[in-house]
Amino acid sequence: MVDVVLGAFYGDEGKGKLIDYLSSKAKYAVRFSGGNNAGHTIEVDGKKFAFHLIPSGILNKDVKAILGNGVVIDPKVLIDEIYNLKENGYKCDNLYISDKAHLILPYHVELDKMQEDIRNNKIGTTKRGIGPAYCDKFERCGIRMEDFMSDEFGSMLKENIENKNKILKAFGYDEISYDKTYKEYMIYKEILRPYVCDTTTMLHKALKENENILCEGAQATLLDIDFGTYPFVTSSNPTIGGVCTGTGIGARYINNVYGVIKAYSSRVGEGPYVTELNNSIGDKIRELGHEYGTTTKRPRRCGWLDLVALNYSIMLNGLNGICMNHLDTIGKLDKIKLCVAYEIDGKIEEYFTTNTKILNKAKPIYEEFDGNFGDISNIKRYEDLPINAKKYIERIEEKTKVKVKFIGTGAGRENIIIR
Ligand code: GDP
Ligand code: IMO
Ligand code: MG
Repeated sequence: MVDVVLGAFYGDEGKGKLIDYLSSKAKYAVRFSGGNNAGHTIEVDGKKFAFHLIPSGILNKDVKAILGNGVVIDPKVLIDEIYNLKENGYKCDNLYISDKAHLILPYHVELDKMQEDIRNNKIGTTKRGIGPAYCDKFERCGIRMEDFMSDEFGSMLKENIENKNKILKAFGYDEISYDKTYKEYMIYKEILRPYVCDTTTMLHKALKENENILCEGAQATLLDIDFGTYPFVTSSNPTIGGVCTGTGIGARYINNVYGVIKAYSSRVGEGPYVTELNNSIGDKIRELGHEYGTTTKRPRRCGWLDLVALNYSIMLNGLNGICMNHLDTIGKLDKIKLCVAYEIDGKIEEYFTTNTKILNKAKPIYEEFDGNFGDISNIKRYEDLPINAKKYIERIEEKTKVKVKFIGTGAGRENIIIR
């Protein structure tokens, strides 16, 4: 059976922590989209791991961790992660990389910076080369892991660098040296070679043997290239369809689809955000929740939880369970607000739209709840939560018709309530 974990909002909901927990019950953990724009944090015995590429499930040593074909891979970042894990006692002999995953090359990173500089409406990308790498994949000049491992790598790289340098030069950006890139990537190639294989066949053999597979989403629903707040989105499909195209697993194998949210919300980068708090409460949530980017260290924009957006995410992905993290953080406030509808041009609207012009004029309609939950970090049973916390959660369930199955009560691996 295949279970899936997806970001339900604008990313950084705490997917890493849920994946770490669920993969303790799985044989395979698979990343299916995105690249090192992601940053998934897990705290184990006070030690923090921040995964950008490697599936967060790898901390469970019996799990086979797979980078699926839908992922774009910066080999330097991946190798740094492998070495960091090895230094911490994880051998990484349970890591597998799809031969169809695409490479991120230095010109992708340079083009990402260039495009962000020259466009009028900034997106606020992570500048990790994600958009340009996916562009090349669809332009059909991308270099896949199997090309990287082959003798054709040098000639493919040369042609690409010559073409990209024409663009970089025209806009006055640094050109990429073929010799330097080739030398550097030839080292990466030999380090990564043992990990590269046909992961789709591997996953289908696992399905035949009735093994449990967990698919790890990166980014989130509202950053989806099709269903997010375009153009303020990433360049892949972090929604449910991305699981099939990014792994080669058919839809009929998918069982549970869990969406991760925080008890409030956050967004990094530009774009509409109806429940954003551009005031001292937003600042307070940022400080209480340590809301600074795992990847870029940028301060995250913070606001209240938005059920209009969450219901959209539930509808699109077919979510049948919610994981709500940071209940401890929101419980430190005296009062909590929950957005239940938007007012748009004097009309009440409960359906989300991705039209940024409409979103920018939508006014949130809130219900208010009492906070002050006290220290809940060690609570293990839902029944033991304070009444104010339960009222908040149960109202979310009432409005979404989906069970909050997992509740995060702190950053540590053990700070989770399972219902
Ligand atoms: P991801 O990208 O969805 O995996 O999330 P990030 O790792 O980027 O951001 C989530 C942050 O919240 C990380 O710093 C986590 O350690 C932290 N975190 C996750 N769950 C909880 C929780 O329930 N309570 C608190 N206080 N922190 C949490
Ligand atoms: P995880 O997996 C939050 C945002 C960027 C930017 C937009 C496009 O940790 O939840 P890109 O570099 O992808 O072209 O940037 O998407 N973004 C994320 N925001 N969490 C992420 O990943 C993100 N990955 C991309 O900030 O607004
Ligand atoms: Mg993150």
